Amino acid sequence: MDIQALLNISYLIAAVTFMAGMKMLGSPKTARKGNLIAAAGMSIAILATIFLHEKQIPLLIYTLIFAAIALGTFTGWYIAVKVEMTKMPELVSFFNGMGGATAALIGLLEYVHNTDSTYKIAMIVAGLLIGSISFSGSMIAWGKLSGKMRKPVRLPSYNIINTLILLLNIALAVYIVAERPESPLYLYLLFALALIYGIMFVLPIGGADMPVVISLLNSFTGLAAAFGGFLYDNMAMLTGGVLVGSAGTILTIAMTKAMNRSLSNVIFGGFGDTGGSGGGESIQGSVKSVTPSDAGILLNYANNVVIVPGYGLAVAQAQHTIHELEELLESKGVNVKYAIHPVAGRMPGHMNVLLAEANVDYDKLVDMDDINPQFKNTDVVLVVGANDVVNPAAKTNPSSPIYGMPVLNVDEAKNVIVLKRSMKPGYAGIDNELFYYPKTSMLFGDAKDSITKIINEVKNM
Ligand code: TAP
Repeated sequence: MDIQALLNISYLIAAVTFMAGMKMLGSPKTARKGNLIAAAGMSIAILATIFLHEKQIPLLIYTLIFAAIALGTFTGWYIAVKVEMTKMPELVSFFNGMGGATAALIGLLEYVHNTDSTYKIAMIVAGLLIGSISFSGSMIAWGKLSGKMRKPVRLPSYNIINTLILLLNIALAVYIVAERPESPLYLYLLFALALIYGIMFVLPIGGADMPVVISLLNSFTGLAAAFGGFLYDNMAMLTGGVLVGSAGTILTIAMTKAMNRSLSNVIFGGFGDTGGSGGGESIQGSVKSVTPSDAGILLNYANNVVIVPGYGLAVAQAQHTIHELEELLESKGVNVKYAIHPVAGRMPGHMNVLLAEANVDYDKLVDMDDINPQFKNTDVVLVVGANDVVNPAAKTNPSSPIYGMPVLNVDEAKNVIVLKRSMKPGYAGIDNELFYYPKTSMLFGDAKDSITKIINEVKNM
């Protein structure tokens, strides 16, 4: 068999492992295995690219390649092992930026060798443009998420300025593809302009909207890599890029839908500033505050309990404690489930990841659409640091900024206990009338602290 055929087979195997791995990422049970399978496919593709070459490569080049791989592998492994769960979104953003930079580098290196082909220059320019935007945009998103750049920077008429920079980018890209100038200077100019656009595009967006932006930039990086696949006629790169691009797009759409926002609303301004910006009318009425002992009694004598985790669970790092309470209640014959809202927390799958870290059984996690009809038969809902995702205003108040966002129907349960520290609003910055309902009891305090006290009470019953 000739070397080219062997190379193509390796790429085919890699492409198949990417698709199989992606499918397995769809469930927490198979996600780890899926990740390993796709990584194995990627290793095959990399090794095949290095060794299955007809041209002779000097030993020094091999040494440099493997030194770079070793350095990259060690750094990636070390960062991934060390990172705290709550810092995951910024890590994803950083890694995504590296992917964009790589796609841009391909363009910068390949341009001068391909000026005889309009097709190849088109692929190079597209990869460089999108990859550079993704790189600089991801770096700004990383800065925002890691708290290094707290405030959104909004120049006056920033939307007009950004649109002009984007049009300039597109015009220059079209010129380069049409004229294919020998000198790479125009390409360097495009690189610089695309980097500026990436920065300007993400700068005005509020920190709390960054997960949506990262997911969008992720799809850009995938697209940029796919153009690299077309350029090299490389099936593994093409499939990998298309999968990342489409997964990023689907995730972006799913997140904006679950937040009842349009993508343009996220990009061109909204309530994405950390902490929210208000917008709802304040609610008149009184709230019923209870003690851990009251909460313990309600939970201990219930048949069906649903726990609703939210962003506050992550802040309080109460995932292990809530699992302990769940096991304790189950040991007393109470049927306990968790209701998972798609945008609870601050990143996709935030609650799933947190609860998996505490070894909560996957079968106990029930998605919103499946749990919503079950609230009618639920004795007690325990809301742990969740707010917007249980706000009935999303169903009842057309003037509310979250009106139309699908929420968990906890108001249909017989009793609701809410664990939070104060009456402060959540991410959307609006009051929650659920807290004022007669069936709702508020247990004020840090979630981990409150759950620990409830556990002690239940143990003594
Ligand atoms: P939020 O509405 O943000 O509410 C979280 C609540 O947790 C707050 O009201 C806060 O009240 C409480 N809290 C904070 N620290 C706590 C602690 N140590 N102990 C107890 N309670 C604590 O959270 P949610 O219900 O999960 O909703 C998520 C929101 O984020 C949605 O609006 C969603 O659209 C948005 N969002 C989500 C994503 C993704 S992908 N998940 C991305 C961007 C935006 P206190 O301060 O009174 O304690």
